[in-house]
Amino acid sequence: MAIISVIGPKGGIGKTTLSINIAAALASAGKQAGAKSRVCLIDLDLRLPSISSILDSHPRKTFYDLFETLANKTHQADTLQIFYRIVSGFKNFLDGDITAKSPRLAKSLALYKNINTDLFNFSHLDFGNDAYDLFLERNRVERPADLKALAPLINNIDVLGIKARLGYILENSRPLIGDYVNFIEEYGFSIIGGEVPIMGKKNHRKRINEPAFLQLFLEFLDEVCGKFDHVILDTPAGGVNHISSLMNTMDHVILVFDMSNRIAVNGSLDALHSFIDYYEDFLEEFNQGRLAGLDKAYVNRLVSSRGHSAVEETLRNKKIGLLFNRCQGMDEISDCLKRMREYLDTLDKYEEYKDCIRIVGMMPQHRIVHITNNRGALFYDKDKELRQRMDLVAKSIDLVHPSPPALSDSDEEILEYLTAKEKSGFATRLGRLAASFT
Ligand SMILES: Nc1ncnc2c1ncn2[C@@H]1O[C@H](COP(=O)(O)OP(=O)(O)OP(=O)(O)O)[C@@H](O)[C@H]1O
Ligand SMILES: [Mg+2]
Repeated sequence: MAIISVIGPKGGIGKTTLSINIAAALASAGKQAGAKSRVCLIDLDLRLPSISSILDSHPRKTFYDLFETLANKTHQADTLQIFYRIVSGFKNFLDGDITAKSPRLAKSLALYKNINTDLFNFSHLDFGNDAYDLFLERNRVERPADLKALAPLINNIDVLGIKARLGYILENSRPLIGDYVNFIEEYGFSIIGGEVPIMGKKNHRKRINEPAFLQLFLEFLDEVCGKFDHVILDTPAGGVNHISSLMNTMDHVILVFDMSNRIAVNGSLDALHSFIDYYEDFLEEFNQGRLAGLDKAYVNRLVSSRGHSAVEETLRNKKIGLLFNRCQGMDEISDCLKRMREYLDTLDKYEEYKDCIRIVGMMPQHRIVHITNNRGALFYDKDKELRQRMDLVAKSIDLVHPSPPALSDSDEEILEYLTAKEKSGFATRLGRLAASFT
């Protein structure tokens, strides 16, 4: 399984377009090899998801539904469960079903005294005025006997109603991946993501900064990844800080280099530098056992499922691919490579990175009008040249025989790789036939 994240510093440099086309190329490569390669494209642009409308394919459930479902789990269910344990313990005591010495009552009292009432503010359940009044009385309750004074308040709370509500919410708090996967027959790959901007909702904006919530989101994404051979993550401009642990632990990153003008190239060089900085910080914190918060929780889970050395190896061997987009001519690529080597050299990073930064492909500035799907997006099977270029990128992601040149190779080798034409279908078939006789 390979997870490939397509990243870039700016809006509009082609991340989404290239992600879609890489997915199409990987699916097509799988088909040609005779095996149905399971490819999934995930739209991680939570602010402005666009893939499903570009491909005109509308999933039954989107990330918006996922956030609602996960919110059920983190806030509603957990909060309600705590509230139920407090009130039912108190009620059982007042009804004489449990004694003042019962451990259950002790637990209810401890929860009551220590609970962070913000939980209730985050939750969108209506607990009723009696519930709020009960929490206002916390200072008056030190021992079980003090509860007797609150009996009218406690008896007013509908414990059975809370229980029924809890059962309903628990049942609806586990996302089923199948509901979110939308396989597109025409293109041969699946998409998962959104249509509605999740960040448009205030509560979701808050949730995206809560580690407990993000952990659930990451668990969902991990489960999705486990079901596919290749997963491509299309990211928003500037990256996805809130799930940096996922970005840092995956094996392939493809950085889209905007070649449309010199300023754009400078921006891309800076982006490469900040990506390296970011990655090095993460690696160092991992090695020194200093990861914290969500990063720590996420990596700990990876370590317990794959083992420490496997996680360390993935982190150490991260593959950084560069994909030049909107190229006007080959001279600019040479110029860009030269500047990149100089830039890394000034940072004293050239020697360290020259072999792991690989050049995975290039895409010229296309005249879009001729080669789009019906939504106006550049599309893989509408143009032979586009298809060849994307097949080259897909080849570089091959886990068994990756072949792209690295920054340490000569410009001649790199340019030859980028412009090499794929063998024709006939030649490939002949090659296979020949191989079958050996
Ligand atoms: N090589 C290219 N030639 C011509 N047009 C291109 C090329 N690459 C991308 N485009 C066009 O540029 C526009 C922006 O591309 P895209 O949406 O893929 O960028 P993005 O980086 O995903 O943007 P955002 O950050 O907003 O998500 C689209 O209209 C796309 O068709
Ligand atoms: Mg995009």
